[in-house]
Amino acid sequence: MGFDTLNEPIPEEPVDPNADLSSVLPLTAEIRDGRLWIGGVDMVELAREAGTALYVMDEDQIRHQLREFRKWTTYHWKDVETVYAAKAFTCKEMCRVVHDEGCMILCASGGELAIALAAGVPASRVQCHGNNKTPAEIREAVEARVDRIVADSLLELERISSAAVEAGVKQPVLLRITPGIKPDTHGYIQTGQEDSKFGFGLNHGLAMEAAKRACELPGIDFAGLHMHIGSQIFALQSYTKAIEVMVEFMAEVQRETDCPVRDLDVGGGIGIKYGLADEPSTIEDFGKIVVDGIKHECERHGLAVPRILIEPGRAVVANAGVTLYTVGTMKDVPGIRTYVAIDGGMTDNIRPALYGARYECLVANKADQPRTQVVTIAGKHCETGDLIAKDVPIQDVETGDILAVCATGAYCRSMASNYNQQVRPGVVFVRDGEWRFVVRRETYDDLMRCDVG
Ligand code: LLP
Repeated sequence: MGFDTLNEPIPEEPVDPNADLSSVLPLTAEIRDGRLWIGGVDMVELAREAGTALYVMDEDQIRHQLREFRKWTTYHWKDVETVYAAKAFTCKEMCRVVHDEGCMILCASGGELAIALAAGVPASRVQCHGNNKTPAEIREAVEARVDRIVADSLLELERISSAAVEAGVKQPVLLRITPGIKPDTHGYIQTGQEDSKFGFGLNHGLAMEAAKRACELPGIDFAGLHMHIGSQIFALQSYTKAIEVMVEFMAEVQRETDCPVRDLDVGGGIGIKYGLADEPSTIEDFGKIVVDGIKHECERHGLAVPRILIEPGRAVVANAGVTLYTVGTMKDVPGIRTYVAIDGGMTDNIRPALYGARYECLVANKADQPRTQVVTIAGKHCETGDLIAKDVPIQDVETGDILAVCATGAYCRSMASNYNQQVRPGVVFVRDGEWRFVVRRETYDDLMRCDVG
């Protein structure tokens, strides 16, 4: 099931109450004594000790995913870098884990860069992108000496060059190209089509003009090309098509400029399993399609195979995470539906309201019981659209139960807000029977920290 079907009415067919949720839960998830355990930690006990709402992430799974990306890409070509897209979820400890696993970090803002550097990640293992980096963000990236800046416009090229000249360096730069491919995903997260705020289009010679300019500018070391066609993509053919276009353009650049294209970055976007019906591709298939695709196209055009970069975000963290909530009020609207309200909502997970995204849920303290009821999980905020899951199967749920929402490791904490002055939940990493906060829960004082006077 792709994203564009997420807003459709739920099919009437009965859901199997005994369906196994392990494919949307972290790898270390298990049921012990009727309760959900992750990373050897009892989620019910954790909710009691650490409080709810709470993001829980399985550190082993995060490490496993990063290793899988490295393994299945370098299997096909030695020179591949996995560059984790920090926007999916970041904090200092996450950056340390990514660096420790031999991966680089992709930052989409000065804030993400500041966190990566504060975590102790060397700037040489960091890349920066974004469609409108401010002059200050450009300066920060250049002065830190990041590995690559991905330039999105001619104005940015000029600004990067000036900042680099001022710093007395030549900044390695990739050009973001929109290859004109529309992947099969939600319109809000398609980014590779021609009508896009991102990057240089191939039509009308815009991308070639940028490549020539990048070769001329004194502060720019033109290192290669970048694309990112979208997110939550299931059909890998979209990558194959985009790679054909990109390598063709690479060949043109080699012909028309003196600058060798040393890097080809294919972005992120590999989809994950949110619902039991979702069938994303495997990391193994992604590695093969991308790396073999680039090798094949380079051979066809008689080009040397460049360093290849991939930028997964969601696929590294989404299924490593669950959000724990405590069930509060319940409201039965006769003949319509039952609302089950929790101590969080759109402030910690905006994705159902924003994209119609669907999540699987279970009661952590009744994890061995069948999901025989269908309810709607509502947040505590002042919006009718503040729903976390509409008409989902769940165990016989009661006030005080601990609800676990699956696959919330990506784009939930990172898109969280303080609407209604809700404090944002903390993030706990679990591993080998131990848990620790890597981001603490906010306090009321945090809410007033920026107030002046
Ligand atoms: N590289 C670039 C240049 C990107 O813009 C993105 C995501 C990624 C890599 C990582 O993509 P991933 O592997 O995570 O799909 N808020 C939306 C997702 C927006 C993605 C934006 N760019 C959501 O919650 O679905």
